[in-house]
Amino acid sequence: MGGGHRRGVRILLMGDPGVGKTSLILSLVSEEFPEQVPSRAEEITIPPDVTPEKVPTHIVDYSEREQSVEQLRAEINHSDVICIVYSVEDEDTLDHVTSHWLPLIRSTLGQVHHTPVILVGNKVDLVDYSTMEIVLQTMMEYPEIETCVECSARTLKNISEMFYYAQKAVLHPTAPLYILEERD
Ligand code: GTP
Ligand code: MG
Repeated sequence: MGGGHRRGVRILLMGDPGVGKTSLILSLVSEEFPEQVPSRAEEITIPPDVTPEKVPTHIVDYSEREQSVEQLRAEINHSDVICIVYSVEDEDTLDHVTSHWLPLIRSTLGQVHHTPVILVGNKVDLVDYSTMEIVLQTMMEYPEIETCVECSARTLKNISEMFYYAQKAVLHPTAPLYILEERD
């Protein structure tokens, strides 16, 4: 882990259409909820001095409407960390995390890969329940998932935290569980 000299952290957001990927990115950048968003945000570079870990951070959006699966696979290959976004108010988008998005990452990078994944449940402003119980189950089945967070692009809840967790997953990865088990 040569943390000190890396060129930056490249964060890819992917997930079902309409879950709020573009809104999350533009909320982070403008610190307010954008009512109108394009389908895909331009690649954004956050200068090191304003990031918690002091590394330049590149944030990459994905949109099914504008990009092919091949283009997505290329972005997966180039990313240091991947945020899979779902909407807490749309169960299908959470189901697709395990039925589609995690398998797509594995089929691109290999069954065992070292790109950390963060599960991001957006739109918590719309519900009064949590999806954490389901998500913790998923985390046990997929060791590549580093952490999970529920947030809202609308209220800005946990938005900066989400991007901080992504940076941290790259710069200070935690040892996967199976390594701890091997010591016994
Ligand atoms: P695609 O580009 O089609 O893949 O969608 P996307 O994932 O980029 O979603 P987008 O940011 O375009 O948001 C979809 C819709 O959800 C828009 O109407 C947003 O205003 C709305 N939205 C996004 N985030 C939130 C949120 O946190 N809360 C609420 N209530 N609405 C949100
Ligand atoms: Mg979008």
